[in-house]
Amino acid sequence: MKLAAIDFGRLYRDHLAAANRNPKRADTWDARAADMSRKALKSRYVDEFIGRMDLAGARTLLDVGCGPGTIGLPLAERLERVIGLDFSRKMLDELLANAAALGLDNVEALHLAWEDDWSAVPACDIVVASRSTTVEDMEAALHKLNDKANRHVYMTHLVGGRFIDPAVLEVVGRDLPALPDYIYIVNLLYRMGIHPRLDYIETEGRLAGAGDFDAFHARVVWALGELDADETARLRDWYARTPSPRAGAPMRWAFIAWDKPAD
Ligand SMILES: C[S@@+](CC[C@H](N)C(=O)[O-])C[C@H]1O[C@@H](n2cnc3c(N)ncnc32)[C@H](O)[C@@H]1O
Repeated sequence: MKLAAIDFGRLYRDHLAAANRNPKRADTWDARAADMSRKALKSRYVDEFIGRMDLAGARTLLDVGCGPGTIGLPLAERLERVIGLDFSRKMLDELLANAAALGLDNVEALHLAWEDDWSAVPACDIVVASRSTTVEDMEAALHKLNDKANRHVYMTHLVGGRFIDPAVLEVVGRDLPALPDYIYIVNLLYRMGIHPRLDYIETEGRLAGAGDFDAFHARVVWALGELDADETARLRDWYARTPSPRAGAPMRWAFIAWDKPAD
């Protein structure tokens, strides 16, 4: 078989379908907006993401799946215009409230999904998609990012395809296939004639810092969906037996970057 014969877009879609996840809808993200907003804007992840960006000569930035403004807002003072795109109305409300609280008047919200028609989305010097690329069609998403960028694209995507520590999956007794991870993106970009730079950012596991069992349980439910009584009992038992911090393995994000050729 020849590499050129492999349709990585199709492979990605097939892998995602086989992983059999219910996609998280906009209202599910709405419900997380206030909580994310409290935590997102200052973290080592943000510093590491921004530290890898080249802002020289850039005036505009499009932040796709912007959430409460995790990447766009800390950069807004250094830019003329920041546009946050998200399909969650509540995330965009948090973006605008956070911008106002920071005294920023150059931040705009675009209520759109990855899957929508992006013809009204302005091209920007920098396009960012941070932890927001669990999409149905990765090939289409990468074309959208690339098409809207004048200078650079920066994105992160999970390594390994699991948002939750496999040890906790085992405790609960679920067999959760991994989601397609970053390696599809590298191959898809290659097929688009793009040779990206690749780096990694490590963050605490999603279960880190849960103050009590209810908070811990809520985070497991976010990752796995509702647990039945037996699953909850197994998790409670494991929680009681396991010393704090019960954070699980760290998460690794592939940081993928490419430049647009100058005209
Ligand atoms: C994990 S959060 C990441 C937020 C922020 N970029 C960060 O790194 O903290 C994922 C964001 O992507 C948005 N999102 C998820 N699916 C989307 C879709 N199909 N179209 C647009 N936004 C989407 C969610 O509403 C959420 O704000």
